[in-house]
Amino acid sequence: MSEELEKLEKQIEEKISNANNLEHLNSIKIEVFGKKGLITNHLKLLSGLSENERKIKGKVINDIKNKINQLLQEKNKTLNDNEISKKLEKEEIDITLSPRPFDEGKLNPITQTIAEVTTIFQKMGFETALGPDIEDDYHNFTALNIPPEHPARQLHDTFYLKNNSKLLRTHTSPVQIRTLEKIKPPLKIIAPGRTYRADSDMTHTPMFHQIEGLSLDININMSHLKGCIMDFCREFFEIDDLPVRFRPSFFPFTEPSAEIDIGCFKDKKEIKIGNGGSWLEIMGCGMVHSKVLKYCKVDSNKYQGFAFGVGVERLAMLKYGIPDLRSFFESDIKWLNNFGFSIFENIEKI
Ligand code: PHE
Repeated sequence: MSEELEKLEKQIEEKISNANNLEHLNSIKIEVFGKKGLITNHLKLLSGLSENERKIKGKVINDIKNKINQLLQEKNKTLNDNEISKKLEKEEIDITLSPRPFDEGKLNPITQTIAEVTTIFQKMGFETALGPDIEDDYHNFTALNIPPEHPARQLHDTFYLKNNSKLLRTHTSPVQIRTLEKIKPPLKIIAPGRTYRADSDMTHTPMFHQIEGLSLDININMSHLKGCIMDFCREFFEIDDLPVRFRPSFFPFTEPSAEIDIGCFKDKKEIKIGNGGSWLEIMGCGMVHSKVLKYCKVDSNKYQGFAFGVGVERLAMLKYGIPDLRSFFESDIKWLNNFGFSIFENIEKI
């Protein structure tokens, strides 16, 4: 073997042995076997030799070529294995970590409150109904006697979807319409769900929860509404003599309309629910407007009824002394462990 080739072989072997990643190894491969590679150049020179010389030198170069190829393959495997184990090390999952206690997660007070409210109404004969979060203008407004230019639309801070034909419901009242389109009265339904308004500050979150109630039958009047709501408030807050007051108000979809206040008082700096001389507004209600019944093709001479809507967050804050509205949606496990409810404790309520 010529001295020159021997030197070249050593040089290439050293390069390969020093390669410390696959990319580097690849560049060596090109340097050796590429178009103008170190070995390729020698192979090219063979054509200028005599037949005899070509045979001898050709064999030498071929042997070197095979040897280097073998080295490249071995090195490739080593580097590949290294890279895989490095990757695995990084992605390691520690399966020795002890499992979290089964009951660590808690029900959000919102879930708990919805369960409590619907249970109370279910005992009065109301059935649960649901409607979509993405509504159309007709069900959220028009059929509730809020025509296109009505100022009440501005009060709702509506989130409109892209082409304005759909929106995120601003209240659960559209479930009244959707239910009446499917079921004919007499009926009593309770409809919990998410509602949305483009409003965000200390006392508003863009997504919140409401529970809607609707009761339609022959001979239903305002006293049925009063009795139903008073019973509900006293049972929900677990105070038998809780004062409940109906204050005249306005909603386009009820006539007459009222706002419901419950008794409260200040204890040190905290607001407590009960008989204490002050009032706190908790929900809206009224007798279903005859125009709403007309939109739903219900004969308003035969059927009348009442409807109400209540904010779930407000109920939960008052009942469980939760000071900040925004904390409901922060998913802070410490907060949830403090204010949340065990699934098992409350199984009979749900
Ligand atoms: N939808 C009303 C609101 O969001 C509440 C309400 C419901 C009032 C049903 C009257 C009757 O404020």
